[in-house]
Amino acid sequence: MKLDYGSGSQPKEGFKSSDFCGAPNYDYYIKDYRVLDLEGGSCDIIHCRNVIHHIPEQDLPLLFAEFNRLLKPGGKLIISEPREEFHRSNLILDIIWYRFLKNERKIALPLYYVDYKKYVKGFQLVKTKNEFNNEILTYTKSEATQLLRFVN
Ligand SMILES: C[S@@+](CC[C@H](N)C(=O)[O-])C[C@H]1O[C@@H](n2cnc3c(N)ncnc32)[C@H](O)[C@@H]1O
Repeated sequence: MKLDYGSGSQPKEGFKSSDFCGAPNYDYYIKDYRVLDLEGGSCDIIHCRNVIHHIPEQDLPLLFAEFNRLLKPGGKLIISEPREEFHRSNLILDIIWYRFLKNERKIALPLYYVDYKKYVKGFQLVKTKNEFNNEILTYTKSEATQLLRFVN
């Protein structure tokens, strides 16, 4: 199964949608970072674009623990996030869009740039690519992590 985490109403083609607010008809709902009704190890690929900069830094371990739970060993995690030099301009656009135009308060808008990569545990980085203002990182879930979990 391919899951678009925090997809909004237009998930990546071929992916299931999931989100925590907005449209009422997602394939899956997210609550406290957990995708409801999805068992562990049910995803082959998770795509997550322009979501992580909305997550407060102290919650990032919860987010990555959920990616770890959902993905099969060897599964792929594709993250697309604005590069650090675009954080400020992106934040200004987010403030205008979410706070002034949509009057949306649930979506967090952390003010400072967070290097989320240091929270990615149990994954191996296999590919990096730039696309417009974003950096796209592809990780695979380490099989070794699974083995260690199994032993413990
Ligand atoms: C900028 S939009 C990106 C939407 C889509 N991924 C895309 O690239 O077009 C940010 C998305 O992250 C979701 N999001 C923000 N905070 C979230 C949270 N705590 N849990 C789940 N989704 C969240 C929002 O609801 C929104 O759909």
